[in-house]
Amino acid sequence: MLVNAKEILNKAYAEHYAVPHFNINSLEWVKAILDTMQELNKSVILGVSEKAAEYFGGWKLVADIVKDYISFKNITIPVVLHVDHGKSFESCKNAIDAGFTSVMIDASSFSLEQNISIVKQVVEYAKTRNVSVEGEIGHISTQEVGKENVSVLADPEECQIFVRETGIDFLAPALGSAHGIYVSEPKLDFDRMKKISDLIKIPLVLHGGSGIPDDQIRKSIKNGISKINVNTEFQQAFADEIRNFLASDKNVYAYRKIMGIAMKALEKVAKNRCSVFDCREKEK
Ligand code: 13P
Repeated sequence: MLVNAKEILNKAYAEHYAVPHFNINSLEWVKAILDTMQELNKSVILGVSEKAAEYFGGWKLVADIVKDYISFKNITIPVVLHVDHGKSFESCKNAIDAGFTSVMIDASSFSLEQNISIVKQVVEYAKTRNVSVEGEIGHISTQEVGKENVSVLADPEECQIFVRETGIDFLAPALGSAHGIYVSEPKLDFDRMKKISDLIKIPLVLHGGSGIPDDQIRKSIKNGISKINVNTEFQQAFADEIRNFLASDKNVYAYRKIMGIAMKALEKVAKNRCSVFDCREKEK
């Protein structure tokens, strides 16, 4: 069932657990993640970046694949089809028109005023179509191999103004995480996280979820994080599995056999992350 992210994130925020946002990069990701989440009976947000959408063959093709797979496999869990780091109003509009149920508009490289103005335009278009919206404050960088994290941390007062002015449903503030592979252990700014959460009282999003130690993930959820984005861990597991499998058998060539092995690796990552993100399970 395709839904927007608002209700499932509000519930997660109220009950202190996090809904996984797993990025999808091809049909194999769609299959492995949806099958696993159905087996676990948990909601999931499928994140699609502009580059991934281009690789798939456009927003519409991604939406059609996800919708058809949900119907083909009778997937009954709530599934959110979400734009990850949409760069413009046009891009978000195209995805919404293609059937996406949630969008992130990332105008964080602009001034606060420009960021507000771009995000407001997206919110206006999205709200009348029952689509949820995420925005970003500060800047969450992409980690370059061998270089330090160059993210710009979010200012709590700016977050408050941004949420009030735009009417977004959830916010991604830069809190010390980064996309990609960390060169040293990330140190999230929990005081800032709590301050922002207390001020804005809507679900917070943690980007750069790969490689963050589990204790920091749990502490983040206690401090208002309700959506955690993971991409790199899946990509690494997928590539490692294929590398090892092909090295172990020089005669293997069948595409579905190779992808079947790789999808098992995706399934393992999804299960592992869910066991940490759903803190309610530890309390049962
Ligand atoms: P990682 O690739 O570091 O897991 O980050 C994913 C992400 O934040 C997507 O928006």
